[in-house]
Amino acid sequence: MIVFFNDKFLELEEVKISPFDRGFQYADGVYEVIRTYFGKLFRFQDHLERLKNSLDALKINYPKMDILESTIYEIIKKNNFIGDNFSVYIQITRGVSYPRKHSFPKDNTNPTTFISVTPIEKISKQKGIKIIFENDFRWQRCDIKSISLLASVLANQHAVEEGAGEAIWIRDGYLLEGSHTNFWAVKNGEVWTAPLSNLILPGVSRKVIIEVCNNSGIKVHEEPIKQNEINLYDEFFVSGTTSEIIPVTQINDDIIGDGKPGEITKNIHAEFNKYVQSKTWM
Ligand SMILES: Cc1ncc(COP(=O)(O)O)c(C=O)c1O
Repeated sequence: MIVFFNDKFLELEEVKISPFDRGFQYADGVYEVIRTYFGKLFRFQDHLERLKNSLDALKINYPKMDILESTIYEIIKKNNFIGDNFSVYIQITRGVSYPRKHSFPKDNTNPTTFISVTPIEKISKQKGIKIIFENDFRWQRCDIKSISLLASVLANQHAVEEGAGEAIWIRDGYLLEGSHTNFWAVKNGEVWTAPLSNLILPGVSRKVIIEVCNNSGIKVHEEPIKQNEINLYDEFFVSGTTSEIIPVTQINDDIIGDGKPGEITKNIHAEFNKYVQSKTWM
């Protein structure tokens, strides 16, 4: 598999990362996951903007922003992949610094770049999942797409061990987002999702879903969802770049409704698919 590492297209096995890379030692870096439909990067500018915000928050000076898009298409071409649905992983760290020291190196201008592309299935599963709740033990800058993902890894592993598909973070009684998804609740045909803040990642799918709902007359409330009001809602779903929209059919031991994906959730997913198929985002 051909990947991009720093300035070169290499076979994966040829990539050599220094043990003194600050990504390896401090998780001092950021990442993005983007997907393609019809072979084209979906909402690329939104992902680029979020990547830039994450880099700025970490004060990483990144000189290669302008070549990312062409580099990704070049990786796809060089791999001769079949199909046109791909998941793209971009990781940028502050780079190598020696000797080991917490503060930034004096020469803070040599970040490490890694980009890989993986073929994926075209349409996400419409089958519902079980979710569990997890007390949020992450830091206060969840708006940064940091590679420091240990809390998310532990929460998602906990979900798997409980036979669930996702863990939803709770902070101060509010349901915020999943370990790697945004979280949504539906009541009387209207939709709720946590407001943007330092406590959630500004999901690109979240943004697209809000647009799609606005365009199809479904009211969206970017307002807090209280854990103790969960019984007031009819449906739930989670969203993310590769998972798109996944209905929630069970919370802990409680089956939601008749245990099948909700009608509004299915409707929103259909509108989302229509938007993707319209190619107006290209
Ligand atoms: C914590 C968190 N929230 C939400 C999302 C969904 O973001 P997006 O729709 O941009 O994939 C992700 C994706 O990785 C995430 O890690």
